Amino acid sequence: MIGHPIAHSRSPEIHARFAAQTAQPISYERLLAPLDGFKATVQAFRAQGGAGCNVTVPFKLEAYALADQLTDRARLAGAVNTLVFGPDGILGDNTDGAGLVADLTGRIGMRLEGARVLVLGAGGAVRGVIGPLLDAGVASLTVANRTPGRALDLKADLAVGLSPSANERLRAGGMDLAQGCFDLIINGTSAGLNDAAPELPKGLLGQAAVALDMVYGAHPTAFMRQALSEGCARVEDGLGMLVGQAAESFVLWRGVRPDPQPVWQALREQLAAHADQAGRAR
Ligand code: ATR
Repeated sequence: MIGHPIAHSRSPEIHARFAAQTAQPISYERLLAPLDGFKATVQAFRAQGGAGCNVTVPFKLEAYALADQLTDRARLAGAVNTLVFGPDGILGDNTDGAGLVADLTGRIGMRLEGARVLVLGAGGAVRGVIGPLLDAGVASLTVANRTPGRALDLKADLAVGLSPSANERLRAGGMDLAQGCFDLIINGTSAGLNDAAPELPKGLLGQAAVALDMVYGAHPTAFMRQALSEGCARVEDGLGMLVGQAAESFVLWRGVRPDPQPVWQALREQLAAHADQAGRAR
């Protein structure tokens, strides 16, 4: 895992658990790259026999530029969180959206086909999940952002890479779009990192079947607390997405699919034991 900073990353532990579960002989460590030394760090790691790596803040765009080939979902996300070193060069992928979809349809047990989905925010975290959510067959995907222009730019940017049907199902704009009935509401804003929630019309969260915050921590986030107080049926944080994206990366490197559920459970218990930690699945 290459990033800066990197000490907080839970990924080594997640992958160690996947490796034990699937009996795969891997070594997965943290690598702190200097802010101006991402490419050199990747090259040195590859020269030492590395088979691939994850990439996190602030290098996801540099990883995108470094890859010789990109998957469709990485191109759509405009960012890369997984590199695979092969004989023909470096493959860049983005597993964030697939990890979220896997968590929703697996552990959470939600049916995404035909679902009306509202996503709050229009930053990098949101961009990574739009394509996979549309691919999962949602009926509509509404992106509402505090700064409307940013959501409109996002939609315009994605338009080229999306199918006509996906483009038709994607709406984007300001917070005025955050009203009506939604089956799933995802908070992709960074407000939760400061224990705040985006401002929403009263009752909006209460009618959703699932409200999910991409931020995770030992305690429910402000967004989750608001959803709970309004009577939302199911409230989740981003820990499942974190484990889910790791599982997708593991599949790319090892060709074996680990079971995310017991790893999620173990991390949940650890978070409860160290109640001051919070993070985001990226
Ligand atoms: P990331 O890459 O983590 O998504 P980002 O690109 O800085 O981070 O985007 C942060 C997102 O959270 C943006 O959509 C931001 O809204 P603006 O575009 O209007 O800035 C949103 N955001 C952050 N704090 C917020 C808050 N308190 N209320 C509503 N939206 C918030």
